This record gives sequence, structure tokens and C-alpha cells, in this order.
Amino acid sequence: MHLLIPAAGSGRRMGSDRNKLLLPLFGKPLLAWTLLAAQHSRQIEWIGIIGQPMDWQDFKTIAVELGLVDRIQFIQGGSTRQESVYCGLKGLPAHADRVLIHDGARCLATPELFDRCAEALETTPGLIAAVPVKDTIKVVGEAALIQSTPDRSQLWAAQTPQGFDVKQLLACHEQGIRQGWEVTDDAALFEQCGLPVKIVLGEETNLKVTTPVDLAIAEFILRQRLAVASSSDHQD
Ligand code: CTP
Ligand code: MG
Repeated sequence: MHLLIPAAGSGRRMGSDRNKLLLPLFGKPLLAWTLLAAQHSRQIEWIGIIGQPMDWQDFKTIAVELGLVDRIQFIQGGSTRQESVYCGLKGLPAHADRVLIHDGARCLATPELFDRCAEALETTPGLIAAVPVKDTIKVVGEAALIQSTPDRSQLWAAQTPQGFDVKQLLACHEQGIRQGWEVTDDAALFEQCGLPVKIVLGEETNLKVTTPVDLAIAEFILRQRLAVASSSDHQD
């Protein structure tokens, strides 16, 4: 399975002066955790990191430290996530017929989630990892007045990985460019083209590190995971 990792953002909401994926998180750059999960997936054979040239040297250093250089290709991204993914799709090897796309900023996704998505992608042309929404969601209009309360049993929070048939997703991106669609994930392009997108159960811990509080939560979760792993090692 081919995996594209959008990593060409700037991390504006993190308030940092560099790409947030290079910030330290529990002893490693944030992106290293994302790559480690992909590396341990049984299904991922090829990884394309979509980045900006100013970050390439740092990304390369991370890839070298993980021993991943042979499996990684660097692809130049664009000014929005949507543009970056389009660049990534065009940078895929010609024989790639299905692709998983996973945000570099979702550094807590597990190898099992990558495997689950890759397996499901064998039988469907479009899918996303998602979890049921826990909060009651309000639709709010002018003057901070609530317009409606959607039925929560139908609401799911979208995550990545998202997976697609490469030719179909490329065609959706191209239609989006022609029609000026602006979307925040690839599933939205597939949906707008009338194509089916299936839900694969995601993970509650698969958060997108966006603001400083997310970084603190991610550190806490990694610390817990490592503690559990080392206590089970001692029992073996
Ligand atoms: N991304 C990308 N190309 C862009 C913008 C974003 O590849 N032009 C990537 C980010 O690097 C990130 C993922 O898309 O891994 C999700 O985006 P987001 O969390 O919004 O990251 P940033 O755009 O970097 O953050 P912000 O919106 O706060 O600036
Ligand atoms: Mg962004």
C-alpha cells in the first residue's frame, strides 16, 4: 500500500515559528511518531512525505534516524492541504492504484489503524477513519443563536487515514480545481463527486495536533503507552 503524508503546513494555530511537525514531542520530532506508526504497519510499503523545501533537510534527518530512507519519497506541497494532496497524488509511482492519505499532524495513529484502513480499501474505492461524536453539536447562526441540534447518532468526527482509488481521487481533485471547491479533507471531494465513502472505525486517541494543548495531550498519551509497553515487557 502507498501512503501519502501531508506535512507541508506551517502550524499557524500552534503559534510556533516553524512547521509544528518538527516540534519536539516526548523526545522525538512530532513527524517521527507518525512515521514510526506507518513503519510498523504490515501493509505500508511506500511513503510519500509532502513537504515544503525549507523542511526537507529536517525531514531527511528524521527518515535517516528511523532507517526509512529507502521507502520514502519527498514531494513538494502547495499552499493549502488540498493543493498538497494533489501534488502528492501526482508524485505517486505510476503503478499505485490505491492510496492512503494520513496527516503528519496525527502522530498518535496506531499501526493497527493503518492496517485496518489498508485492508478495507481492498473492497471499497473510498474510506475514512472516523469516530462517533461524543458531544452534542449545535448549528449556530447569526447573533450566536442556535439554529438546530443535529441527531448525534448520525454524527461522526472525521480523521485520517483516508483511502481512495488513485484515479478516481485525482479526477475529483481536478473537478474541484475546475469548480473552485475548497475542502478540508479528501473525502469531501469524493462526496461532492457523488462517490461512496465508507467509515472505518478510527481511534479516540488519534487526535490532530493543532494547538499547544494538543501537544501536551499527545505527550501524555505517548508516556502512558510507553509505560504500559515497558511494564508488559517486564512481565514477559
Ligand atoms: N498541510 C499540508 N499542506 C498545506 C497545509 C497543511 O500538507 N499547505 C498538512 C499539515 O502539515 C498537516 C495536515 O495537512 O499535517 C493537517 O493540517 P493542519 O493541522 O491544519 O496543519 P497546518 O496547516 O500546518 O496548521 P495551521 O492550519 O494551524 O496553520
Ligand atoms: Mg492548516
